[in-house]
Amino acid sequence: MLRGESLAAALPRLSAQGAWDGPRRGAAQALGFEALRGLGRARALLRLLYPRRVKPAQLEHLLLVALALLSLPEPRPYADHTLVFEAVQASASRSATRGARGLVNALLRRLQTDRESLLAQALEQPEARYNHPQWWIDALQAAWPREAQRVLELASRPAPLALRVNPRQASRAQYLERLHAAGIEATAPCEPGLEQALVLEQALPVGRLPGFDDGAVSVQDLSAQLAAGLLDVQPGMRALDACAAPGGKTAHILERADCELLALERDAARATRIGDTLRRLRLAAAQVQVADAAQPSGWWDGRAFDRILLDAPCSASGISRRHPDIRWLRRPDDIAALATQQRQLLDALWPLLRPGGRLLYVTCSLFPAEGAEQAASFLARRPDALALVAPGQILPGGSPERDGFFYALFAKRDDAPA
Ligand SMILES: C[S@@+](CC[C@H](N)C(=O)[O-])C[C@H]1O[C@@H](n2cnc3c(N)ncnc32)[C@H](O)[C@@H]1O
Repeated sequence: MLRGESLAAALPRLSAQGAWDGPRRGAAQALGFEALRGLGRARALLRLLYPRRVKPAQLEHLLLVALALLSLPEPRPYADHTLVFEAVQASASRSATRGARGLVNALLRRLQTDRESLLAQALEQPEARYNHPQWWIDALQAAWPREAQRVLELASRPAPLALRVNPRQASRAQYLERLHAAGIEATAPCEPGLEQALVLEQALPVGRLPGFDDGAVSVQDLSAQLAAGLLDVQPGMRALDACAAPGGKTAHILERADCELLALERDAARATRIGDTLRRLRLAAAQVQVADAAQPSGWWDGRAFDRILLDAPCSASGISRRHPDIRWLRRPDDIAALATQQRQLLDALWPLLRPGGRLLYVTCSLFPAEGAEQAASFLARRPDALALVAPGQILPGGSPERDGFFYALFAKRDDAPA
C-alpha cells in the first residue's frame, strides 16, 4: 500500500520475507483493513493536529494507522492506552528521526483529550466522513444521487460471509444441517439464482467451515453467485470463461453442468489458483490456459462457443468494503482505461460466439462507464446482439446484504452469420 501495492499483494510478500508468522499476519491484516477503512478520517485528523508534512513517510503512516483506530466509535477493537503505547514504541524503533516518539505521543494524546471536537471538525470534509477519495464520492453521487450516501456508508462496515454449497456433494438443506450441528448459524436466501447460497450470521475463518477442505462449500458473494444461472451452461456445451482466476465462477459453472470449459487467465500466477479451486471442489477439470482473452488469434482453435462469460477486469468499486485499499489506489483516469479494456474484450470475444449463443458481461463495479454505458454502447455497435434481460446494476446492500455488481446478458441473433 505504501508504494501503491495492494494489501492482497503486500501481505503475502511481507510474510514470505519473514516479517510475520501466521497469527501476526492475521493481526496485521485486520489492522491494515481497519486503518484503510478510516484513512480519510485519519488524514483529516492529522491535518488538524499537525498542519505540516510529517516526515519521514513511515512516521506519517504510523500516525495515520493510530489515528484511524483511535477515532473509531466505541467499542474500539484496541484499548486506547495500548494503542498509544504501541504507536509510541513503534515510532522509537522504526524511525531514526529525533523527537518522533514525543511527536507521536503528543498528537495521539491530544486526540484522546479533544476527540469530540477534533472529530466534528474532521468529519465536515466528505473524504473524512465517507473514507473515500473525493473523485470517487463525486462519481458515485453523479451516478446514484439517492443511493450514494448509503453505499458509501456501507463500505465502512465489514462485509458478510456468503457461501455457495457444492451441489455435487450435498444439498443446501443438508449443508445447513451440518453448519447447525457445528454450532454455526446461517440463513438460506429464497431468491432465483441463489439456490446454492447461504449467508453466515457471523464471519469466521474458512478452516472452521465443515468440509471446506474437501470441497463441500465455497466462499462467494451472493451477487457473484448469479452469474452461473444467467449464463445457463447446459451439459455438453462448449463454454469459455474468459477472465477466470481465481476460478470462483468457473467452479460454479462446473458444479451445475458437465461441459467443455476453457478457462483463460492472463496472469500466470493467478491462473494456478483456478486448478487449486477445482481440485478442492473435486470438480471435472477445465482446460486452463494462460492467455490474453483480447487476442483470440493466440489461443482460439476456431470452434465457436455456446456460452461466454466475460467477468471483466474493473475498478472493483462494488466490492470496496472487502478491499478497502482499492479506493485509495485507484486514480480517476483508471475508470476510462478500464472501460476501454472491457470494450476491447467484448469486441474480441463476440465473434467467437455461435449464433443463438449467450455472452454474459459482468463487472463488480458501480460506475456506469463499466456497466450500463458499456452495455448500451456494445448493443449500439453490434446489430447482431440483443439483450436477453435488461442489463442490471446491483448496488451493495440489500437483504441479505450483497456486493455491487453489473450484469448484461447478450444473445447472438440466430440469423447472424457464423
Ligand atoms: C474479476 S477477476 C475474475 C474473477 C473470476 N471470474 C472469479 O469468479 O473467480 C478478472 C480476472 O481477469 C484477468 N484478466 C484481466 N485482463 C485479462 C485478459 N485480457 N485476458 C485474460 N484474463 C484477464 C485478471 O488477471 C483477473 O484475474
